[in-house]
Amino acid sequence: MTDSGMQFRNVSRREFLNYVWVGSLAIFMAASGGAMLAFAMPRFKEGEFGGTFTVGTLAEKLPSPDSPPVSYPDLRFWLVNVGPQEAAKGGGKEGLLAAYKVCVHLGCLYAWVDSTVRFECPCHGSKYQEDGTYIEGPAPRDLDRFAVQLVDANGEVVAQTVTDKNSPDYGAPVPIPADTSLTIKVDTGAKIDLGKQYFYRGGPAA
Ligand code: FES
Repeated sequence: MTDSGMQFRNVSRREFLNYVWVGSLAIFMAASGGAMLAFAMPRFKEGEFGGTFTVGTLAEKLPSPDSPPVSYPDLRFWLVNVGPQEAAKGGGKEGLLAAYKVCVHLGCLYAWVDSTVRFECPCHGSKYQEDGTYIEGPAPRDLDRFAVQLVDANGEVVAQTVTDKNSPDYGAPVPIPADTSLTIKVDTGAKIDLGKQYFYRGGPAA
């Protein structure tokens, strides 16, 4: 083997290692950049489950007080306008709420039953009032809710679900303002677990 041949092979090996090193660095940088970008991007897009969903204006989409709940199957919530009748049943408050469609017992999808005017779970028979208050069955608590916002034309939040767990109004229905041009938004990423309320209340709802 000649000196020039040796030199050619040595340089090639060094060059090859340089290429490998530079290539590895480039791949690492691209992967790191991609990971950082993925981290910076919102996890869920607006309008899909896990993100914020724009329902429409109060004028367009607000159910009448004490009317049956309105189903949003893809977003997995019921929109409920708790009126005076419903609020009086469980001692709750009037206003707008979004109830998560999954039963708090073992995760089945419960349904609204017109004839009994309540939610009923087909799996083990838990029952809930329209505002999600536990009535009977193996479920340990009231239904979970999602945070609701009422937003004006400038994007300002005029009213919203209280998400501070220390507040006595935590998760309570949002009082409905007179301005029907406000837009209803539901944040399906902000689940509100009202806790084992019926134990605190001393028993199932009357
Ligand atoms: S999952 Fe609903 S009662 Fe069991």
